[in-house]
Amino acid sequence: MNISKTTNIIEKSDLILLCRQGESLETYLADQKERAYVKKRFSQKKDTVLLNQLDHIILVARLGKEDTALNERLEQARKAGYGVHPTLKDHDSRSVTIVNCDVSAEESIAFAEGLALTNYQFLKYSTKGDKKANELSELLLFDEQLSEDHIKKLAHLIKGVYYTRDLVNEPLSHLNAQQLAGEIEKMGKEAGFSVEVFNKKKIESLKMGGLLAVNKGSVDPPTFSILTWKPEKAVNSRPIVLVGKGVVYDTGGLSLKPTHDSMDYMKCDMGGAAAVAGAMYAVASNQLPVWVIALIPATDNRPDGNAYVPGDVITMYNGTTVEVLNTDAEGRMLLADALSYAKQYDPEMVIELSTLTGSAHAAVDKFGIVGMGNASREIMEDLKESGDYTSERVAEFPFWDEYKEQLQSDIADLKNTGGKYGGAITAGKFLEHFTDYPYIHLDIAGPAYNKVPFNYRGKGGSGVGVRILYNYLLKRSN
Ligand code: BES
Ligand code: MN
Ligand code: ZN
Repeated sequence: MNISKTTNIIEKSDLILLCRQGESLETYLADQKERAYVKKRFSQKKDTVLLNQLDHIILVARLGKEDTALNERLEQARKAGYGVHPTLKDHDSRSVTIVNCDVSAEESIAFAEGLALTNYQFLKYSTKGDKKANELSELLLFDEQLSEDHIKKLAHLIKGVYYTRDLVNEPLSHLNAQQLAGEIEKMGKEAGFSVEVFNKKKIESLKMGGLLAVNKGSVDPPTFSILTWKPEKAVNSRPIVLVGKGVVYDTGGLSLKPTHDSMDYMKCDMGGAAAVAGAMYAVASNQLPVWVIALIPATDNRPDGNAYVPGDVITMYNGTTVEVLNTDAEGRMLLADALSYAKQYDPEMVIELSTLTGSAHAAVDKFGIVGMGNASREIMEDLKESGDYTSERVAEFPFWDEYKEQLQSDIADLKNTGGKYGGAITAGKFLEHFTDYPYIHLDIAGPAYNKVPFNYRGKGGSGVGVRILYNYLLKRSN
């Protein structure tokens, strides 16, 4: 999707007029009858009104009232962008000019964001791809308050989300751990961050026992990718480290998952890795002056002949021994190694994203990220604020030490599963064991993948995580 600023409205181009209550439409709707029609439709509780001009269309979209809280208005604007998409498609619109009549710049950006994210499609394996493809490919923003730079930054962010969705939607048949690393390298080249990929030999020499244990049942080698964005004038002297779960497919291993509604969508289990890579893409493309490193341990989790078994004891990268009681609790095994590895950077903080537990999914459904951690209140509140601003909301869970008791093993330092209750938290506490810095764990098992379409978040990979991380890092860099 091309997104750019425009300073003139080309005659006969499709238009979307963004307004509050329709008071300021005179400039763009000269015809009094049309304005009266818009008012009438608004009074009939319609928020978008179509004015068919025969050789082009004009859509008038009413956004939230001024007294509504900003974050709510932004989400309303994104949803309005989603809402106009079918009409644009129906009229074979290729390019549309979004005119800000009297809303805020943030809302016109959010509207464009919602529309652009709605226009995403994953059609590469459809042999009828061309026929199904959306025609819309250009958004022109007519908004005096917005600079060209601001709009370019939005375009990069959207592209980051698109890349993340692509990675999540890509099946294992086309995206194993090595291919994931290869795609991340491509993203790095395009955006300007550097990527180093450890192969199996290197991972073995480092003794990353957790990652290697999960990989034992696979025929494909694991990878460990290190993404670095270190701008010259970084605001931080110690890096912010992001960690993403890169399980390119989770069968559960020998603790095999049932197919229906469980294993069938487990290509999404690298959603954390994809989000972290997408956020790096946006951060580097937009040259944010903040030093960020991302770590992505990746493998599939399979039950081949040499697979790790329930009962095994694994020595992790940091020397901790873990009794594996369920091979389906694999994410924490490889994330633990990445979190220990992060210590060498003496990070300011670490934010880790993963599709980690069914428990988090069950608790909040697709509507939020389950967050927890031991970082300062300030960090957590800042992150939650970014979540509210981008509508990638964080539901904070407790992180009390009592939950650690569930992880006590009779024969090793830890076991990899807790009890029946608090599964999202025991998983987080397991990971915390491998940290020695301010740490935040974001479980995106609920919102990462939509089995049915969910507004501008779409169907399949939602790209969740990119916008919250980007917004947080943007704030941190100011
Ligand atoms: N990848 C799954 C978690 C998941 C569930 C992701 C739903 C996306 C949607 C994870 O590896 C897993 O299997 N977790 C187990 C842990 C359990 C065995 C302790 C779970 O939550 O059931
Ligand atoms: Mn699993
Ligand atoms: Zn998993």
